[in-house]
Amino acid sequence: MSRTATAGTAADGKMPPGPKGRLLTGNMRDFGRDSLRFIQGMSQAYGDVVRYRIATMWWYQVNHPDGVRRVLQENNHNYPKSNLTRSILTPVLGNGLFTSEGGLWLRQRRLMQPAFHRRRVAAFGGIMTDATLSMLDRWAPMAESGTQVDVSAEMTRLTLQVASESLFHAHAGEEPAVVAAAVKTLVEEVNYRYQVPFYPPQSVPTPRNRKMRSALRTLDRAVYTIIDEHRRRGEGDDLLSLLMETRDADTGEAMNDRQLRDEVITLFIAGHETTASALSWAFFLLSNHPEVEHRLRAELDEVLGPDAGRVPDVEDLPRLKYTGMVIEETMRLYPPAWIFDRQAVADDEVRGYRIPAGATVMISPYVLHRHPDFWDLPDEFDPERFSPESSAGRPRYAYFRSAAAPGSASARRWRWWRRS
Ligand code: HEM
Repeated sequence: MSRTATAGTAADGKMPPGPKGRLLTGNMRDFGRDSLRFIQGMSQAYGDVVRYRIATMWWYQVNHPDGVRRVLQENNHNYPKSNLTRSILTPVLGNGLFTSEGGLWLRQRRLMQPAFHRRRVAAFGGIMTDATLSMLDRWAPMAESGTQVDVSAEMTRLTLQVASESLFHAHAGEEPAVVAAAVKTLVEEVNYRYQVPFYPPQSVPTPRNRKMRSALRTLDRAVYTIIDEHRRRGEGDDLLSLLMETRDADTGEAMNDRQLRDEVITLFIAGHETTASALSWAFFLLSNHPEVEHRLRAELDEVLGPDAGRVPDVEDLPRLKYTGMVIEETMRLYPPAWIFDRQAVADDEVRGYRIPAGATVMISPYVLHRHPDFWDLPDEFDPERFSPESSAGRPRYAYFRSAAAPGSASARRWRWWRRS
C-alpha cells in the first residue's frame, strides 16, 4: 500500500489525507485482498479521517468516535444509506428497515417497534433454549467419540433455526426450511458483492447473478406462501403474525404483502448471520483463554446451579453479568457488522476535514473497536473492559452494539426522530 499522502486542498475544511493508490484501480486491490488489514492500516497511517479511491469511487473512512457521531447523529439527515449499499441490498431486502430511508423508514420503525418490546422478545427465549438443547443432544455422541465440530457451521444452523422459528413458528409447512436455504445463498452472494464492489448488476446474466435470482424467486415464493397461510388461519404468536396484526396509529393501515416480505427477509438476514458470527468467535476466544472460560463457568454455576444445571431464561440475563461482558468483548474484537456506509448529500466537515457532497463515508466498528485512544492494548481479549467501572466515560461511538440494543446507533436514530 502506498503511503504517499495526496495534497490537501483547503476549502471549508482540509481534504483528508490518504494513499495515492494505482492509476486506474486506486486501492481496490489492497481492499479486496485483505479488507480488515487495509482499513485498519488506513486508520493507523492517516488518522481520524482518511480518503482513498476504490476504482472510480472515493471512500472517506471516519475513524474517530466524534466523527462518527457527526455522521450518524448530529447531521444524520445528510447521510442516508449509500448507493453502493442500496444497489447490493435492495434487490434482496427491498424496502425493509435496513434499506429504507426518511418517511417510509420512520413509518415502518414505528409500526414494528411493539413487536420488539422487551416482553415480546422474552417470549422467544424458549425457542432459543430449545434449539440449543437439541443441538447439544446432537453434539453429545460426537463429544464422546472426540469428533470435531465445525463451530461456525453449527452456529449458523442454530441461528437459522431460531430466526426461522421466531418468525414463522405458526407455519406448519416445509417453506421455512426453503427460506433458510435461500437466505444462506443470498448472504453468501451479498458478501461477495461487497468484496468486489464492481460486480456486474443483476440484469447481466453472470452465473452468480443467475444463482442470486433463482434464490430470490425461491425465497419470494416461500415467503408469500407463508403469508397467505397465516392470513387464512388468523392469529398466531410468531413475529410474522405480530407484524401482520400491527396497524399504523394515524391511518389504521396494515402492511401490504410486499412490505411484509421485505421486513421478514430483513429480520431473517440481519438477525441470523450476525449472531452466528458473534457466537462462533466467542467459542474461539474462550478456547484460547481458559482463565476467562473458568470464570464464565463459575458464574453459570452460581446463577443456574452446579454444572450449569438449570436451563436459563430471560429473567436470568441481568444476573449473568460476566457472560454479558464476554459477549461484548467478543463483539469488540470481532464485530459481526465490521463495516457499513453512508453517502453525503451536501458538503460537510468532519473533524476539520471536508466531506464533499456525494462522498461515500465508511464507518468500521472493527477499526473503532481497536482505536488505541479508547482501548488499552486493543488487540487483547479482556472482558473486564466492559465492567461498569471500566466502561464509564468511554465515548458512545467507540463501541457498536446490535441495532436492537438500547445503546445502539440505530436505537439512538429512532429516539432522535421521535423527539424531532
Ligand atoms: C450480534 C448481533 C448484531 C449486530 C452486531 C448488529 C449490528 C447492526 C448494525 C451495526 C446496524 C446498523 C447498520 C447501519 O445503520 O448501516 C444494524 C441494523 C439493523 N439490524 Fe442488526 N445487529 C445484530 C443483530 C440483529 C438482530 C438479531 C436483528 C433482528 C432480529 C437485527 C436487525 C437489524 C435491523 C432491522 C437493522 C436496521 C435498523 C434500522 O435502520 O432501523 N440485527 N445492526
